[in-house]
Amino acid sequence: MTQRRLARCHSVADLRRAAKRRLPRAVFDFADGGAEDETTMQRNSTGFDRYDLLPRTLVDVADVRLATTVLGQPVEFPVILAPTGMTRLFHPDGESGVARAAHRAGTIYTLSAMSSTSVEDLGAATSGPNWFQIYVWRDRGVVREFFSRCRESGYHALCLTVDVPVLGQRERDLRNGMTMPPRLTASAILDAALHPNWWWRFLTNRRPTFENVVGRGDAGRADASVLGTYVNSQFDPSVTWDDLAWMVSEWEGPFAVKGISRPEDARRAADLGVDGVIVSNHGGRQLDTAIGALDALPAIVAAVDGAVEIILDGGVRRGTDVVKALALGARGCMIGRSYLYGLAAGGEPGVERSLELLRTEIRRALALVGCPDVADLDMTFLRERVDAARVPAHAVH
Ligand SMILES: Cc1cc2nc3c(=O)[nH]c(=O)nc-3n(C[C@H](O)[C@H](O)[C@H](O)COP(=O)(O)O)c2cc1C
Repeated sequence: MTQRRLARCHSVADLRRAAKRRLPRAVFDFADGGAEDETTMQRNSTGFDRYDLLPRTLVDVADVRLATTVLGQPVEFPVILAPTGMTRLFHPDGESGVARAAHRAGTIYTLSAMSSTSVEDLGAATSGPNWFQIYVWRDRGVVREFFSRCRESGYHALCLTVDVPVLGQRERDLRNGMTMPPRLTASAILDAALHPNWWWRFLTNRRPTFENVVGRGDAGRADASVLGTYVNSQFDPSVTWDDLAWMVSEWEGPFAVKGISRPEDARRAADLGVDGVIVSNHGGRQLDTAIGALDALPAIVAAVDGAVEIILDGGVRRGTDVVKALALGARGCMIGRSYLYGLAAGGEPGVERSLELLRTEIRRALALVGCPDVADLDMTFLRERVDAARVPAHAVH
């Protein structure tokens, strides 16, 4: 997509529509979909509608400040990029393109353990700041190796994802027969006629695979289906708080735990010495009907009482979403699909566009709500809507 056409995308929703046109259905659904009935994925979005903004008037907003810090790292606006596996599937610019766009925008990129670019290649392709997202794999030796690989490549922080004791089920992927890597079946060939650019790029670039684990598993083979089997075998459903404590002490640097929904879990993570808690349900891709991320936020903010930074992850598509999350006590927000739509629509410049849109929206929302500094957002800028569904029937006349 050309810069001119990207400039005609005026919201993340526009980028999503552009991504949908460009990607084969199975690839679009792999990003866009959630677990089972996608109830939690929807709750992540509708959670923001539960709050009205209460604008304060006649405030000098000539100079609006968006800059803050996240886990000690300065960012130009309070949005950081969540880890997403297999990013090169959406566009060959992949993880490196996304990270470069993030850094140019003045923010942090988080590389997934399941990335299609290795820790080292991303470190070499960008000057950071980068975080690395990790799982506690069965083979703790591999985990230790990741620590030293990340240190050598200059990653600032580690982010442990804890909401995947087992894999959730995304039914769109099952219905689409989504495989990793996509196969050239009869229907894929038909699809190629509808999405020739994507297929051309896919077939003429290095195939996406789980680059961080190439050489492991079956006789050192590198294709995604073989490595996928290896990676799946490494998910350890017996991981507990002791493993988190072990990781925090081994890493000896800024550490965030991602996938927390309960206040007492957030408190426990804080007591174990993490620096950040990422309130998240994996973008609704794991346990369906789990609490929406924003719905979980207030109780967690109250429970940790400033002991650690809280990051809200899930459903962020608008600047006003970020403003609401910060008003409820989050330090910043993570975005996943919002930048993937940009990547699919237009590669690295598409990611840049998604970040520019969000940043502009946050700036405008702060000015309109009468809060010239993100640091000053608080509950007084919000009013929780009265949910008609929660009013007992006898009270409705
Ligand atoms: C295609 C895709 C791949 C993802 N892969 C990972 C991953 O490897 N590790 C992880 O912790 N989260 C992963 N996530 C979840 C994101 O980090 C993030 O929690 C989620 O996208 C937030 O919701 P949002 O997309 O509504 O912003 C993935 C999400 C998507 C859409």
